Amino acid sequence: MASLTPPEFRARFPILARRTYVNSCSQGALSMDVDAAMRRFLDSWNAEGSSWEAWVGEVERLRATFATLIGADADEVAVLPSASVGINAIASSMAFDGLRRRVVMGKFEFPTMAQVWLAQRPRGAEVTWVDAVNGMLPTESYARTVDERTLIVPATHVCFRNGHKTDIAALAALCRHHGAYLFLDDYQCTGTGPIDVRALGVDLMVTGTVKYLLGPSGVAFLYVRRELVERLVPTMTGWFGRVNPFAFSIDRLDWSPSARRFESGTPMIPNVYGAQAGIELLDAVGLKTIERTVAELTAGLIAWASNAGVTVATPTDPTRRGPLVVLRSVDAPALVSRLAARGIIASCRDDGVRISFHGYNTQEDLDSVTAALEAESRMLRRAKVNQEQEARS
Ligand SMILES: Cc1ncc(COP(=O)(O)O)c(C=O)c1O
Repeated sequence: MASLTPPEFRARFPILARRTYVNSCSQGALSMDVDAAMRRFLDSWNAEGSSWEAWVGEVERLRATFATLIGADADEVAVLPSASVGINAIASSMAFDGLRRRVVMGKFEFPTMAQVWLAQRPRGAEVTWVDAVNGMLPTESYARTVDERTLIVPATHVCFRNGHKTDIAALAALCRHHGAYLFLDDYQCTGTGPIDVRALGVDLMVTGTVKYLLGPSGVAFLYVRRELVERLVPTMTGWFGRVNPFAFSIDRLDWSPSARRFESGTPMIPNVYGAQAGIELLDAVGLKTIERTVAELTAGLIAWASNAGVTVATPTDPTRRGPLVVLRSVDAPALVSRLAARGIIASCRDDGVRISFHGYNTQEDLDSVTAALEAESRMLRRAKVNQEQEARS
């Protein structure tokens, strides 16, 4: 795809002409390109009937495209239907029978990450939590818990609840020092700026297409550092984890020497078409450009909130936040509905309204959001009110 300027990129998303869309942390906006790609699958199904060779070829194309995006090789990437499947495949390949049986997790994990590891307790896993302090999860907090008993540290890059961004490179170094694996959940970050898994030093990573990768649901990726691939043997498997799925063997369990060993069933072809188009679109505008736009807009919203005295749940340090800004509300679901009535699509978790920016958002979007928030200011928590409440309690 030819390169695109930011206005050309924005023009690929029809919804942006009708709505102020600041909900990419839930679902990326639909582009004409992803729409056309998914129709191309239907056309191919309609025209050829069962083009499995070509369709499986599309999975390989997507594997290679994603690998390039994150600075990995294609044989270090599994293409999966959800992040949960990838986390389960990794958990199923771990033994919890020696001294090293601890799973250390911060309180900012997405539920699926926590739940998969909690489900390993009957297999011997010991789950240990790292608490957040004032909405932050510094490496020092992990350093008090990670030791030679730690097997793995699953860590979300950006927290879906408050937008905190963990220092993954520092955490990976800490894990390496103690001989533990670092398993990055990059779902709330991939697609918002350049990423290099080798420079970050992570052992494993999951992410998916639903949010900033601009694709449909039903595609996720698992990266496994090359040196680890053949050391990990999942018990969650299926025919697509074999050396050659089309050998149709029922009496041999061979393992693909690549990260394909973490795959299991028939690939989700329509979604693969959409996912490919989403990543190509990101590539056309450039991840550095997206990163710049996101940084400017998040900084603008935080500056507005602090001027207005609105309580911000997201760290104000720009290095410790991602594309998501969370503002505290007295009734977050009601505020989301009121914003929707004003043409602004946002979301909420707990008492926070989530405003997330992507490369297709503009200063005009930010102005619309702040104007609507000013009009609904009764619904926002204010720092002063909080202090008064604290003084009274
Ligand atoms: C941080 C994070 N991890 C994982 C997921 C979803 O994982 P799955 O693909 O298993 O639904 C989400 C979705 O909201 C998320 O925000």
